Amino acid sequence: LICTTVNEYALRISLLKKKYAIRIFFSWAIIASIFSVLITHREHFNQEEELTRKATILHRMASQKADQHDAHLSALSVIASSSDVPQIQMFENLSETIRKFYTHVKHVELFTLDVDEKPTLLFTTRQQPLSSVLISKMISFALSSNGKIQILPYEQGYFLLKRSPNNDDARYGVALFIDAEGLLENGLNFAAETRYLLSSPNGIPIFNSSPNIVATPDRIAAKYTATLSSRSQPLRLEVTQHGSWTEYIPLNNILLFAIFSSLGAFFIYAFLMQKFKIRQAEERAILRENEARIAKASRINGLGEMASGLAHEMTQPLTAILSQSQAGVRVIQSSDANANIIEEIFFNISKQAKRGGELTKRFRDWTTHAEENRETFNLNSVATGIHDLIQTDLKERDIFIKLDLTHDELPIYADQISIEQVIFNLTRNSIEALDGVKHGLIEIATKLEGNFAIITVQDNGHGIAEEDMIKLYQPFFSTKKNGMGLGLSLCESIIQRYNGQIEIINNEKQGVSACVTFPLKKTL
Ligand SMILES: Nc1ncnc2c1ncn2[C@@H]1O[C@H](COP(=O)(O)OP(=O)(O)OP(=O)(O)O)[C@@H](O)[C@H]1O
Ligand SMILES: [Mg+2]
Repeated sequence: LICTTVNEYALRISLLKKKYAIRIFFSWAIIASIFSVLITHREHFNQEEELTRKATILHRMASQKADQHDAHLSALSVIASSSDVPQIQMFENLSETIRKFYTHVKHVELFTLDVDEKPTLLFTTRQQPLSSVLISKMISFALSSNGKIQILPYEQGYFLLKRSPNNDDARYGVALFIDAEGLLENGLNFAAETRYLLSSPNGIPIFNSSPNIVATPDRIAAKYTATLSSRSQPLRLEVTQHGSWTEYIPLNNILLFAIFSSLGAFFIYAFLMQKFKIRQAEERAILRENEARIAKASRINGLGEMASGLAHEMTQPLTAILSQSQAGVRVIQSSDANANIIEEIFFNISKQAKRGGELTKRFRDWTTHAEENRETFNLNSVATGIHDLIQTDLKERDIFIKLDLTHDELPIYADQISIEQVIFNLTRNSIEALDGVKHGLIEIATKLEGNFAIITVQDNGHGIAEEDMIKLYQPFFSTKKNGMGLGLSLCESIIQRYNGQIEIINNEKQGVSACVTFPLKKTL
């Protein structure tokens, strides 16, 4: 029971270790995954914030530049229409000044607005002449301005057109060509794959900073859109940063976290294991204490059993001593007292006293854990010894005891006194079963069968009731008035100690046969 408990305990601890290792591993894996997702999300959020911050600055810078265009156009318009004939030289001077300080203002144009006459370009800063179709378009835009500055997208920028003077009698049109790239120029160091788009208020694209970027929705990582705050140029600015989410996984941070968290998990595991070991040691100590208590209890129990057994076994030599002593008294009182008879009686008394001494010695050996006295002996000699011992007692009863020994040697390795006890108990049961039976017969027989020595004690007594058969070896089971019910239970435990077997059956005709088998010791 104790061994099973200890083994089960060790198994439980090893299962607990595995269980905790698995639990800690999975917890670590879940925490690491959550951390990775969060940190990636955080990184993405940071990118978005960064883009918004820079795009807002860009938006402010472009809006400020756009606001200045109004003032340029107004100044140029004043020069154009201040006299009957436009002051071209002054116009040119101002144009150059504007272009010099505001480099995104690429060109300045001045043209007549007389619809009846052929449109005439009075001034341009371009080397290449503009197409007449474009000039017509510019004129129509300028005329339709109704006082408001008009925007005409063209190539990588847009024209800003204004009539001059700014009323229905306008004679000239003034145009500024704004280079969108220059307008959006900035030193903001946007991340790679950032694209800015500028489009007119009615959605016509004006400028695309990176036409090569494939702007599929799944690759847009962050986006900023706003309309320039200039009243005359409410252009739409869109800044997008491209890239897939995998590009935002901060591998270094995740790797660092994985290393430190796995170290942490390992320390937690080691800590828990340490705690387990301490608990294990404590529980083992308790278990050992219990073991000792159980052992003590079982010894006390065993002591009781042994005491009962001893009492049982001691009755035989004491009874024999008593009957021999009574026989001696009778012989001395009778007239035919003879030294030989008295000597035999004393010899028998001393033999029984020695046997009693041997039995008490076994009790002492058992309590002091002394080694059992095993030896190799012939089972036939035990049978003869018991036969001789009992024969004296049976003389006065109507019981005949027969000995039928095999001629083969029957060497067995055991404690001889214990084996004698077994045969004696079986014989005593037979004697008791023959109480009141006429012509009682007990036969002690031995035989060799293969590697086994067999001894049988057979009687022609009253036999055993069928329902009692299964109770024979139970301690304290007895059908006798003065029986302790320990004889067969003692026999069984002794026989099993020497790897033997016992079988008790009712004979076909009458009485009982008790058959005991022992393994043979190879040499005597
Ligand atoms: N040869 C036999 N003939 C008939 N009954 C027997 C025989 N041997 C054993 N028994 C039955 O088995 C019972 C148990 O035997 P066991 O030797 O264990 O105890 P017991 O003889 O009753 O008491 P004791 O402790 O004094 O030996 C006996 O009470 C008896 O009923
Ligand atoms: Mg008995």
